[in-house]
Amino acid sequence: MHTLPILPFEMTDLEPHISAKTLEFHYGKHHQAYIDNLNKLVEGTPMEKDSLQNIIVKTAGREGKEAIFNNAAQAYNHEFFWKCLKPVHVDTLIPVELKNAVIHSFGSWEKMIEELKGAALSQFGSGWVWLVKEDSNVKIVKTSNADTPIAHGQIPLFTIDVWEHSYYLDYQNRRADYVNGIIENLANWDFSLDNLRD
Ligand code: FE2
Repeated sequence: MHTLPILPFEMTDLEPHISAKTLEFHYGKHHQAYIDNLNKLVEGTPMEKDSLQNIIVKTAGREGKEAIFNNAAQAYNHEFFWKCLKPVHVDTLIPVELKNAVIHSFGSWEKMIEELKGAALSQFGSGWVWLVKEDSNVKIVKTSNADTPIAHGQIPLFTIDVWEHSYYLDYQNRRADYVNGIIENLANWDFSLDNLRD
């Protein structure tokens, strides 16, 4: 039985960049619905007790398993996304280890941010943008709808949800303002260092 994970911040901690109202829907309704749907879909099946990651790997690209994959991947992606965000009033430093890995692959931290923003704005329709580790490099990838890097052997380090449900109440169609709001004020770069070290 999967349950909605507790947010690593208070509902008002991301304001004004992401409002409590948006979180009420995004976390309280959308994320909850993915979990509820997944629980119904795997009940009584061999996947009933599997972790989200195992369900994702077992169902990725499998005909007839799309609904299970979509709900498990969205449950995983959202849980990961909340961890990528920090309260506005908390200052965090970019870990040296991550900065060095980014400079090694992109040339500079600023170049990576530029690519991340470009990917977020060019993702057509619903999806996600990610900083991932693959082999010994880090890179920016986009995924559509529920798709997730862990279905492709990539290790996620950071993500931004670019589904309209994540910004429409606060920004309407202004996705760029939402993305800048996260990168400049809410990004928590240091929670996935263990993934970088894997
Ligand atoms: Fe979302």
